[in-house]
Amino acid sequence: MKQQHILLTALPIVFFCTIDCWAGTGISIQFPPDNSFVDNEQFSIVLTVEKQVLDGIRVVIGENKPTEISVRPDSTNVCFGVTLSKGINTIELLGLKQGKVIAQKEMKIFFRSDLFPSFREPPANFNRYFFHVINNEKSCSGCHDMDPTLSSLRPENPEKSTCYVCHKKKYTQYTFVHKPAAQGTCFTCHEVLRGERKYTVPKPDDKVCYPCHNAEVKGWKSKKIMHGPTAVGHCTMCHNPHGSEWPALLRMQTTDLCINCHEDKASGSHVIAGFVGKGHPVRNAKDSFNPNKEFTCASCHNPHAGNTQNLLNHDNSNMALYCNNCHKM
Ligand code: HEC
Ligand code: HEC
Ligand code: HEC
Ligand code: HEC
Ligand code: HEC
Ligand code: HEC
Ligand code: HEC
Ligand code: HEC
Repeated sequence: MKQQHILLTALPIVFFCTIDCWAGTGISIQFPPDNSFVDNEQFSIVLTVEKQVLDGIRVVIGENKPTEISVRPDSTNVCFGVTLSKGINTIELLGLKQGKVIAQKEMKIFFRSDLFPSFREPPANFNRYFFHVINNEKSCSGCHDMDPTLSSLRPENPEKSTCYVCHKKKYTQYTFVHKPAAQGTCFTCHEVLRGERKYTVPKPDDKVCYPCHNAEVKGWKSKKIMHGPTAVGHCTMCHNPHGSEWPALLRMQTTDLCINCHEDKASGSHVIAGFVGKGHPVRNAKDSFNPNKEFTCASCHNPHAGNTQNLLNHDNSNMALYCNNCHKM
């Protein structure tokens, strides 16, 4: 029953074909459409292949080491995940038969990011891609459970969530995991169904952080000045809501993160303006107040809020006093 639709694509197989006649016929791309843009680094591709023509797919993305995916002989569907780099990714798909390339397809995907001014806007001919619309899901429901049930809203264990099979990387791939994602309670933040698209997140995204981080957010809002991106509720500009390679679920190392938007502060020369010297260190030292932490821009500035315009963490009622927080002068 589940495999019924495969019969439709069991076309006659021609074995004496060269690369030219298979190009474009051996593989077709179901998702995503060519020239799509997305906000995710981890990304899934679904191909349709002609049954028993190919036994593998080699995936080449830019300079990265190619990966090979095997094609099950009984299936016309190949589903796999790739990791994208920021900007345009040219993805080349080579169809293999006993190690020989007999088919080939190419597509371009743009990975957009709010954090980098140069990657905020996709080129004009790229279109936004959302997968979870009812029509797209139809072609998967033969093999995958596309309709979350009560048990997947609060799964006994993460593997029981219906999202796991396609999004397992969101649960386990990170060094630092965010509890609600690692536990598979995706619906604490994602809405099940809303209009055309499923699994949207309310905007601005601090709305979904509030219920669990109420104490912190309240504390920041009670300060005189909120930091630009925090003030507009865009927490996930800096934090990955699923997990991260960096402490505090940051999208990148703290100082690098700040420099994306404050390039002119990278040298640290602003700290000692008025003092002699070339610039204050902004990395490669231990935080003066917490030896388990790296010294970063956030050792001096609060990334969320403060009572002075400069969001400084420590007493800065005058500069000599300020330096004294960390230096005995
Ligand atoms: C003919 C059956 C079949 C169809 C149709 C199918 N899939 Fe799959 N898919 C599978 C199987 C089998 C796996 C492997 C499951 C596993 O590894 O546990 C899989 C795995 C996946 C994965 C995880 C890949 C990875 O590397 O982690 C994604 C994503 C996926 N499918 C997406 C889709 C989407 C989207 C569709 C609809 C467009 C679809 N699949 C249609 C059979 C199918
Ligand atoms: C059959 C595989 C499959 C299943 C099951 C699945 N997804 Fe997806 N999902 C995809 C694919 C493919 C994409 C688009 C490419 C990507 O992001 O990897 C996607 C994208 C998304 C997106 C980005 C927005 C969009 O529509 O493109 C969200 C959010 C999402 N999935 C949440 C979920 C949640 C929550 C569940 C569980 C209830 C779930 N998905 C189950 C395959 C699946
Ligand atoms: C703490 C809140 C939170 C939890 C828990 C969460 N997400 Fe998300 N997720 C978000 C936000 C915020 C976005 C960004 C959405 C946007 O900007 O539209 C997002 C985006 C996504 C995307 C698309 C973009 C990307 O980064 O890949 C996918 C796919 C996704 N989530 C899947 C999941 C799955 C599967 C789970 C459960 C394992 C999950 N999420 C749990 C908040 C969350
Ligand atoms: C369902 C509850 C829940 C929601 C919703 C939630 N979080 Fe969390 N978050 C937690 C828990 C639990 C921890 C782990 C706390 C701990 O280990 O001390 C955590 C930890 C964190 C941490 C790491 C703190 C640290 O000291 O390392 C950050 C950053 C974070 N969350 C940001 C967010 C953001 C941003 C959102 C909204 C997109 C959000 N959270 C939504 C429950 C939640
Ligand atoms: C400009 C980037 C940025 C934005 C926007 C941002 N954060 Fe943070 N956040 C950080 C940094 C950097 C740290 C780590 C601070 C440190 O190392 O001391 C952090 C730490 C945290 C922590 C850990 C505990 C703490 O107070 O240090 C939580 C929880 C948190 N952020 C939640 C949020 C929430 C919720 C929002 C949205 C209202 C948000 N953040 C917006 C950069 C940001
Ligand atoms: C996504 C961009 C973005 C990131 C990332 C970012 N900032 Fe900001 N920052 C802003 C904006 C916007 C303002 C508001 C001031 C303005 O409009 O110039 C601001 C203001 C500030 C101010 C106050 C300056 C003033 O004159 O009001 C300080 C201090 C600051 N940021 C430090 C940091 C630190 C430290 C980090 C890293 C933890 C960081 N920022 C990361 C965008 C960003
Ligand atoms: C040793 C502490 C310290 C470190 C580290 C530090 N700052 Fe500052 N920062 C200051 C002080 C002090 C001021 C106020 C200087 C002034 O009034 O001229 C300031 C001011 C600022 C301002 C607002 C002033 C303006 O002219 O716009 C921004 C934005 C800022 N810092 C960003 C950063 C970023 C980004 C980093 C990391 C690359 C960083 N700072 C590292 C101490 C520090
Ligand atoms: C939040 C703590 C903190 C504050 C505030 C601070 N510093 Fe520093 N400073 C450091 C750390 C950490 C280092 C690196 C120490 C090391 O490598 O031994 C450093 C290094 C320096 C150095 C370089 C020393 C060297 O050997 O290269 C100078 C100069 C300096 N600070 C001057 C200042 C001045 C002037 C102020 C006040 C405007 C100030 N600092 C405020 C933490 C701070």
